[in-house]
Amino acid sequence: STLDTAAILQFACDLARQGGQVIRDAFYGQGLSVEGQVKNGNPSDLVTLVDQHVETLVFGIIRERYPDHKLIGEESASDSSWTLADDPTWIVDPVDGTTNFTQRFPFVAISIALAYRKELVVGVVYNPVLDELYSARQGHGAWLNQSTRLPFPTGQPAPLPPLNQCLVGFEHGSDRTPAVLDSRLASLRRSGGGEGGAQVRGVRVLGSGALDMCMVARGATDMYWEIGSHLWDIAAGTVIVREAGGIVVNGRGGDNFDILGRKYLAIRAAANDDDAEHSIKHALAREVLTY
Ligand code: IPD
Repeated sequence: STLDTAAILQFACDLARQGGQVIRDAFYGQGLSVEGQVKNGNPSDLVTLVDQHVETLVFGIIRERYPDHKLIGEESASDSSWTLADDPTWIVDPVDGTTNFTQRFPFVAISIALAYRKELVVGVVYNPVLDELYSARQGHGAWLNQSTRLPFPTGQPAPLPPLNQCLVGFEHGSDRTPAVLDSRLASLRRSGGGEGGAQVRGVRVLGSGALDMCMVARGATDMYWEIGSHLWDIAAGTVIVREAGGIVVNGRGGDNFDILGRKYLAIRAAANDDDAEHSIKHALAREVLTY
């Protein structure tokens, strides 16, 4: 059967706004508490009542409308208990940027994606504090608030500058296992010009992988990379980046995108995106990522 992705996108946008309202109310002290509890004994990994409540709310609404679809959510997935199958599968991060949320730092988002046959086909990321909704479906572009085509300001990509003029988003993440920490810091060192890397103009750490992807789609940053993030952090953002003309790879410049790879690099759309441009992007990927 084929999926009506136009209807699914609209449903996902409405759903993101509903979940977003719960987040916004709590953020402004008018609903549930923003207080964080430590997850898995890791003080850098938090969960709040709002994460759990929004995931339950969103899953309930999806089940009612699409009872046959599968669900993967950050708060109900345990590291061993979920797999991505060919069925239509919703991938939800109820609050991306939970640490930001507990601090009332205004970069938080609800992220909702749909995968079908293991391909990402619809993505919605909504920042309810700034009231910015990013949405995309395969083949139909990426949009801000369902009205302005991305990237800014014209909906057309600008030339990609050399790496020493690039603004690069990254995240420190919550995974502090030595191997992950080492490769993350090595990549950061290279992007600072160390270890033979090319020095980038600047780095930005927003605290939300989903919103980092949206910044790439907007053209606000030239790229974003993270090591250790999960599928639900980047699934919706991946559709949005691609539909804004950008690319998402797994490092080492490879074309193969491993959806479960837990290492992601997104690069914004570039004007004149011919073969030469394509290889420049992949050279950038190799420069920035060392793993
Ligand atoms: C986290 C945020 C953070 C990123 C982590 C994610 P959460 O998501 O996106 O910026 O570095 O990798 O897990 O836990 O706040 O939903």
